[in-house]
Amino acid sequence: MSSSSEPKTIDTLLREHRHFAPPQDFVAQANTSDPTIYEQADANPETWWASWAEKLEWMKPWEQISDWSNAPYAKWFLGGKLNASVQCLDGHVAAGHGARVAYYWEGEPGDARTITYQEMLDGVCRTANALKELNIQKGDRVTLYMPMVPELAMAVLACTRIGAIFSVVFAGFSSTSLKDRIQDQEARLVICADGCWRRGKLLDLKTVVNEAIEACPSVEKVMIWQRGKGITSSAPATDRDVDWDEVVDRQSSQCAPAEQDAEDPLFILYTSGTTGKPKGILHTTGGYMTGVYATTNLVFDLKTETDVYWCTADIGWITGHSYIVFGPMANGVTQVMYEGAPNHPGPDRFWEICAKYGVTIFYTAPTAIRAFMKWGDEHPATHDLSSLRLLGTVGEPINPEAWVWYLHHIGGGRCPIVDTWWQTETGGIMITPLPGITTTVPGSATTPFPGISAKLLDEDGNEVEGANGGYLVLDRPWPHMLRGIWGDNERFEETYWSRFPGKYFPGDGAKRDEKGFLWVLGRVDDVMNVSGHRLSTMEIESALVDHEAVAEAAVIGVNHELKGQAPVGFVILRSGFEASDALADDLRKHVGTLIGGLARPEAVHFTPELPKTRSGKIMRRLLRDVAEGKTIGDTTTLADPGVLDGLRSEYEQREG
Ligand code: PRX
Repeated sequence: MSSSSEPKTIDTLLREHRHFAPPQDFVAQANTSDPTIYEQADANPETWWASWAEKLEWMKPWEQISDWSNAPYAKWFLGGKLNASVQCLDGHVAAGHGARVAYYWEGEPGDARTITYQEMLDGVCRTANALKELNIQKGDRVTLYMPMVPELAMAVLACTRIGAIFSVVFAGFSSTSLKDRIQDQEARLVICADGCWRRGKLLDLKTVVNEAIEACPSVEKVMIWQRGKGITSSAPATDRDVDWDEVVDRQSSQCAPAEQDAEDPLFILYTSGTTGKPKGILHTTGGYMTGVYATTNLVFDLKTETDVYWCTADIGWITGHSYIVFGPMANGVTQVMYEGAPNHPGPDRFWEICAKYGVTIFYTAPTAIRAFMKWGDEHPATHDLSSLRLLGTVGEPINPEAWVWYLHHIGGGRCPIVDTWWQTETGGIMITPLPGITTTVPGSATTPFPGISAKLLDEDGNEVEGANGGYLVLDRPWPHMLRGIWGDNERFEETYWSRFPGKYFPGDGAKRDEKGFLWVLGRVDDVMNVSGHRLSTMEIESALVDHEAVAEAAVIGVNHELKGQAPVGFVILRSGFEASDALADDLRKHVGTLIGGLARPEAVHFTPELPKTRSGKIMRRLLRDVAEGKTIGDTTTLADPGVLDGLRSEYEQREG
């Protein structure tokens, strides 16, 4: 018999935690513990969303809540005027909370800064005035290429202050990826940092920017915030460079906010699709602010007076936009922001930070949780994590083992976990538990947020009822939904609205259990999810065929213990090139250089042929079977079934 002091195995925990009911003391203090809000919101979704919009600061009230007559182009809060930065800053300062900490910032080397709401407001106004001096006007696009520093949030809010459309490009993307995005949006200004710290090294970002803007004539100026004060980057200055401190510091800390229409664009954020070209997802102001404000408030049960909230995402992804900048700041909570790697200088860095700032709400990705598990239980155990009261996950399905480990080793067995399903396109959380209401089940994102309607459909678009699987769709408009793809309406309509006409198709498959809970299973298209980030197989394939040695390439996402999925390439070489480990390595690096480190394939295999249908379509499903060592699935549509035998023996040889 096991004694109670013996450490529990994951299997024991899984048996003990088939369900997790919100603890009584959590329910007692929850922002909502009333299960009837679901029915109320369903009965009249417009009234429900308007009740949240009313909590925002409007310069002019809206005349109509929503308009779906021009579907799939939604409009929300028509005629209303507001400014997102006012909601995030001025309102809190005016209410007497200027001295409240907005961000506790922790640099990777251990340098730290504390920035209050008043300081953020002053900084945002100065930066906005600097943008005006650089002749940036309402509707102009500004590309941001910065690490996790408060100045990134400041730059974002400064753009919104004057009505410029900002677009953050994750600072791990290559110069080619950055260039493509700048060109697509025809940005007039790039704001970047000279570099940042990552795993003990200074990364040079300015060189990447210099390379990117060579082919970007639309860029008039590059404003550089110095992380390393001249030591980070050896990139030469260009005639477009202006120094952040030089131009921002001398500005006034007063800047009247632009009156933005509810439907004025707020930002463009690029995400991978099924073709090689990333999609510029467009979000507008009033609906987006309403959605992120409401979801942050209810899903994270925010208490602005007492909570210290930490979302470990990067602002370069949608999670950072919605749940580091706009949602939490609109609510006025105190946050932690960390620059660097979770295991630098040691695998307990996150837990040290949680203990240092008394973090109460912690939001991260399953891939990170699986890494924490691998690094060892002792790392969280050596820090005081008793301040935590709520945990969240996002980005990919969470395996039940990681879920119970998180509950037990980080949440001390007492913190509810919110597994939140959503996308760049949805703008905010769509399927999620509410921590004071939902009895959760490890691995399920449970039910749609109040006001959101999700259905499962079969191949033919018929609704799937009961405990069954199907294609996930959202069949009712919501305020924070995307308004389009920048410059490409056709692609917007084709990608999301053509598979099941009239319904939004996110590209995911899901199942429903007996309780009616949803389990999002993963992508059903040629998009893979690597460490919670979306990558397109086509984009990686294009990068591979860009190499002089490659004639043809197919890329698949294979299951990966830590990353969830990892890209693996199969390539046919041009004549005159020999397969070798060195060439495989070179190809992997080539993808990293063209797209960014995240996209670098785990492995590249050489093959004389690829499995194709008679019409020439690559059957990636069969490649996946080969790569995962599974029994090969249905091959009846294959033009030449013999191709697979060759592939498998080549694969087994390489994998040893
Ligand atoms: O496949 C789903 C998966 O991530 C995709 C969205 O990726 P992205 O736009 O990069 O946004 C990530 C952060 C919101 C979805 O189509 N996904 C996201 N969250 C979950 C998830 N899959 C299962 N469970 C989740 N909680």
